[in-house]
Amino acid sequence: MLDGFKSTGTLRGVLFYDGEKAEVITLTNLNGMTASFMDIGATWLSCILPVGGEKREVLLRSPDMESFKKQSAYFGAVVGRFANRIRDGRFTLNDHKYQITRNNGKHSLHGGEVGFDSRRWNIEYHSFNQAIFTLTSEDREQGFPGKLEARVTYTLTDKNQLDVEYFAVSSQPTAVNLTNHAYFNLAGEDSGQTVLTHSLKILASHYLPTDNELIPTGEIKSVKGTGFDFTRTKSIEKDFLVDADQRIAGGYDHAFVFDRGLNDGEEDVIKLMSPGRDLVLRVRTTKPAVQLYTGNFLEGTPGLSGEYVKAQGLCLETQYLPDGPNHPEWGRSNGILRAGEEYKHRTVFSFDF
Ligand code: GLA
Repeated sequence: MLDGFKSTGTLRGVLFYDGEKAEVITLTNLNGMTASFMDIGATWLSCILPVGGEKREVLLRSPDMESFKKQSAYFGAVVGRFANRIRDGRFTLNDHKYQITRNNGKHSLHGGEVGFDSRRWNIEYHSFNQAIFTLTSEDREQGFPGKLEARVTYTLTDKNQLDVEYFAVSSQPTAVNLTNHAYFNLAGEDSGQTVLTHSLKILASHYLPTDNELIPTGEIKSVKGTGFDFTRTKSIEKDFLVDADQRIAGGYDHAFVFDRGLNDGEEDVIKLMSPGRDLVLRVRTTKPAVQLYTGNFLEGTPGLSGEYVKAQGLCLETQYLPDGPNHPEWGRSNGILRAGEEYKHRTVFSFDF
């Protein structure tokens, strides 16, 4: 166990959270890649890659703990119990009505007022290449039914992959949707460039349009002929804000539904490329969808290298469908964990440089 916060060479300063230090763990691999995590929010704080002889930080983050506590960007945190929005914070499950705390207008976002992002997780284990965080969320915490035991395992491999495994069990049927809210900028956190010049491919022929409060309308719409078509690699700026569906969100902030069978955790379903093409991020996952969020609300948020601007980073939040508990017609993609079931998922971020 780390003795309080240790300066790792990648992260400086002492991070105090609730009067106590945050614990930070740095994983390393044979190729000189490092990935750092802290117990608050089981947050992925840093990812440094040796690209072209230089060390490049590719994650956005707060400059210090005071700013971390104030921000609403969810930098690198594990969000839960239910990632993304739940309309009016309400849903019905097995004829019981549940009210989740509301923290996004009249809606719940990323688990309500006190989400998993602002909880201190227990460090169950760590080694040079693995960190395991666990969290107990009590029955009716933030309004959710069932006592949930959650576990997130981060493993850094010598193939330059960050493997993220999610596991949870609940004492009662409940809604569970766990994801990581990292913001990537493959040109570098301090590059001064936005992600609009990155290229992106997502193997999704459908997306979820939203209303102007960013709640899915219920339609599962084809990307064909829209700016949401990333089935072939294109630059993000090419069709940025061309659709009315994007304009109400100020950019991309939508769930893309992976094509059938591709979310087996084996196949790459997302590819993101730096503008100089010197760094590529590939993602595979067992989740049915990804929320592509182009940092539309980032403007003015304090960041490591200075104040961030809109689109300074983007999130690839692999997840169940937003507001799923209110859409039983979406079947197993709605994020309901039934009695006796285990929540077991995996997302792998592979970096090629
Ligand atoms: C998610 C949401 C966005 C925004 C961010 C946090 O990705 O979809 O609308 O709320 O979290 O700023």
